[in-house]
Amino acid sequence: MEKFLIHGGRRLEGTIPVSGSKNSALPAMAAALLTDQPVTLDHVPAVRDIRTMGRLLADIGASVERSGNRYTIRAERIASPEAPYELVKTMRASSLVLGPLVARAGRARVSLPGGCAIGARPINLHIQGLEKLGARIRQEHGYIEAEAPNGLKGAEIRFERVTVTGTEDLLMAAVLADGETVLENAAREPEVADLAELLGKMGADIEGAGTGTIRVRGVAPLGGAEHRIIPDRIEAGTFLVAGAIAGGEIDVCGARADHLGALIEKMQEAGAEVAVSAEGSMRVRGGRRLAGVDVATREFPGFATDLQAQWMTLSTQAHGASILTEGIFENRFLHALELGRMGADITITGRQAVVRGPSVLSGAGVIASDLRASASLVLAGLVASGETVIDRVYHIDRGYERIERKLAAVGALIRRVE
Ligand code: EPZ
Repeated sequence: MEKFLIHGGRRLEGTIPVSGSKNSALPAMAAALLTDQPVTLDHVPAVRDIRTMGRLLADIGASVERSGNRYTIRAERIASPEAPYELVKTMRASSLVLGPLVARAGRARVSLPGGCAIGARPINLHIQGLEKLGARIRQEHGYIEAEAPNGLKGAEIRFERVTVTGTEDLLMAAVLADGETVLENAAREPEVADLAELLGKMGADIEGAGTGTIRVRGVAPLGGAEHRIIPDRIEAGTFLVAGAIAGGEIDVCGARADHLGALIEKMQEAGAEVAVSAEGSMRVRGGRRLAGVDVATREFPGFATDLQAQWMTLSTQAHGASILTEGIFENRFLHALELGRMGADITITGRQAVVRGPSVLSGAGVIASDLRASASLVLAGLVASGETVIDRVYHIDRGYERIERKLAAVGALIRRVE
């Protein structure tokens, strides 16, 4: 199993380029199932979850060609409208093929995701929405079987709670449905708006993506398209935090500051120096005295749950107490115990963590438990004294494109070992 070795305490200087968004590329790839024409996606990050989605689409019958960060997917026919347990258990986002498959092929068989390190994460809202669109759903042997032999029918769907992939799944189902669909209490994340932009290029008729109400008028058939995936706001945010806690100065380039408003605001409140340039580059200077700042994670445009772990590492370096409230997932503080092993002072009560800083972190052997938790440990390793060894880095490879190379290029002492 691969590990990262990090020697902390190095200043970071230089420019870090931001990759394309994993969470935008995943639904975009699934959207290619909606047409028999080729869909070409640029700026797709080279991360493990994307390779898993590529495998899933190929199993379903699509041809998937990759050239660097460019993918061309052509689903001329749907050979097997199924997402097997073996793939779903390694990547929950596999359930994103449910909506497109029912819409295009009239049926789908998708394994139900099981438990997850960060919380229960059911897909009941995807299922209820598909039922409203007229699909018949059965649950058997751990699989969801959905059928709509005569096609889906537009409907009004109000999400009980905001769900990102649920909104994306139903948006993809609705574009081929007969008539109008209104999605209320829809997720407003930039990844939803990016998906809608791609679907629009394929010929779909969508209004309001990026707001809480999305209207879709069904159109068939959809055609091919070319689309460039938006930058990964979570990767960019991770590097901004790295810059704020390590000495030196880094430019995080190719990101979208308008996708990172809540983080930048909190960083500035903590006393970090972050400047945004017009071209989407952000400069962050470390070495400033940081103050503890409370953060509560919420749906976009609130503070992203996917940046909570990284904020916890920043809080260990800030003066005073920071209260972190996790508003999205019930069990997303696993990194706190590992940070504690490095010397952080963190108390967890239910969905709240109190971090008292600043702590002098010392390098230790730690275990990555999920994608963003791993990122917080890498950040801690950058400021800890001595050597940090992070085990199970496959978690970080799911969503960060060669994080060790990007950090090493700006001066971090980090390497991957077997
Ligand atoms: C997406 O997951 C992201 N994944 C997650 O990124 C991210 O943490 C999450 O949104 C929240 O922003 C992708 O985009 C591929 P949700 P998703 O449905 O869509 C509950 C990362 O690190 N819920 O918005 O699965 C659910 O349990 C990852 O890159 C239901 O109850 O999250 C959670 O508490 C991890 N029933 C809340 O809603 C449902 O049917 C929000 O989950 C669906 C969700």
